[in-house]
Amino acid sequence: MKLSQQLLNNLIDITSKSAISCYPFIGKNEKILADKAATDVMREELNKLNIKGKVVIGEGELDEAPMLYIGEELGVGDGPEIDIAVDPVEGTNFVAKNLPGSMSVLAVAEKGNLLNAPETYMYKIATGNNIPKGSVDIDFTVEKNINIYSEITKKKNQDITVCILKRARHDKIINELHRLNVNIKFITDGDVSGALLVSDPKFNVDIFMGIGGGPEGVIAAAALDTLNCNFQGRFLFKTDEDKIRANKMGIKDLNKKYEINEIIKGESIFCATGITTGDLMNGIIVKNGKYITETIITHNKSILQLVKKKVSIT
Ligand code: FBP
Repeated sequence: MKLSQQLLNNLIDITSKSAISCYPFIGKNEKILADKAATDVMREELNKLNIKGKVVIGEGELDEAPMLYIGEELGVGDGPEIDIAVDPVEGTNFVAKNLPGSMSVLAVAEKGNLLNAPETYMYKIATGNNIPKGSVDIDFTVEKNINIYSEITKKKNQDITVCILKRARHDKIINELHRLNVNIKFITDGDVSGALLVSDPKFNVDIFMGIGGGPEGVIAAAALDTLNCNFQGRFLFKTDEDKIRANKMGIKDLNKKYEINEIIKGESIFCATGITTGDLMNGIIVKNGKYITETIITHNKSILQLVKKKVSIT
């Protein structure tokens, strides 16, 4: 195992700290300040680690002069070479409006094992480990996928739940799901969590589908891979500029369908700390002069674990 328990503990610490840095901004309608606070903390803390890290999924590209930009090198420069995906605040609107489900997220893999994803949309589909890989497919119609899922799981359409972002671009899919009498779990943001809901029957989500951020797709895939779940994605490019950027990042076939093992390979760690309480974990609680955080982690072939942490307020 190249990614040590020590690194895992460090990452739990980092997402906890970056989540806590957002606490003053919860419900303050300041999503940019919340994102900046979390990004600053994440960067500062990652730079203390004994790693030779490189951001492959970040807050933007160097020419946009953000921090934690794609290609940024992090860590003190010795230790394992790792690729890092960061999403300091997943669900910035949730923090701004004090709505459920925001979290601070990191995923890491050994160098070269995490897809370098451009800042563009991705069409995604995810299912749990209760159906074989390759059964449902982004190239199939909604109806065909529901039929396949229903046949394998012996669930009637009325007992199948699909999670999808509530967006006008999904109207056609949503109408089709209504026609098929399938339940819909709408999310208004936060499709990393949305995709992860397929990982455990307790969340009562059978299939996640729809268009969301490409970087969020890669981050969700990192956790789903460890949990033996299924995920496919295809980038969607609007402008020529987007296509040129993708080409520069090494994406030659712009229409490629990515299987989960082309997005994430080998050993990986996914780590997400709740900022506001959501389906996956509690948000930050302040009690007796301490912040209490909840973090979910996946590592290697471990199950989804929940780690609670108490951090003193200074
Ligand atoms: P931010 O936290 O960066 O605002 O992203 C939230 C999010 O809902 C993602 O989870 C999702 O992938 C993406 O935005 C969807 O984008 P859009 O709001 O443009 O449909």
